[in-house]
Amino acid sequence: MIAVIFALLAIVVFTTLHWGMQLPSSVETIDSTRVQLGGEFSEANLGTSVSANGAVTVRVLAEQYAFVPKCILVPADIPVTLRAVSADVVHGFIVQGTNVNTMVVPGYVATLKTRFAQPGDYRMPCHEFCGVGHQGMWAQVRVVARDQFPFEQATKEAVNCARR
Ligand code: CUA
Repeated sequence: MIAVIFALLAIVVFTTLHWGMQLPSSVETIDSTRVQLGGEFSEANLGTSVSANGAVTVRVLAEQYAFVPKCILVPADIPVTLRAVSADVVHGFIVQGTNVNTMVVPGYVATLKTRFAQPGDYRMPCHEFCGVGHQGMWAQVRVVARDQFPFEQATKEAVNCARR
């Protein structure tokens, strides 16, 4: 029994270090009925922002049946923090070839850290059944080379593929 416990712990440590998997931690709650009324996830803040210390944060709103922004713009090969909330029911998203894979549960902020190695366009589908429009719910992640990303603008306002 003890061996099994240690084997499971070893798997957790291995996947955390090797694959960048993140266990749910520091659970952060939010009132999902009010996320669009102001605060961190108000419309103007959705997208990619760069803080004064250079940290890149992407804020995403999931709602039936779309992600906002529809096309997420991020720089390649830089640590990126994703923060997502739902405005209604349980959603989720995954970006193939990365460690980005999370549920977005109403009432909680889903946070994960990643780094997109290669520039390119990646599909980000919703992977939790969320209603009749579920299969049409997806976003795009556009990873651009560092010198193509509007860092200067992103310190002032959240950017996305259309607003850059
Ligand atoms: Cu949102 Cu399925």
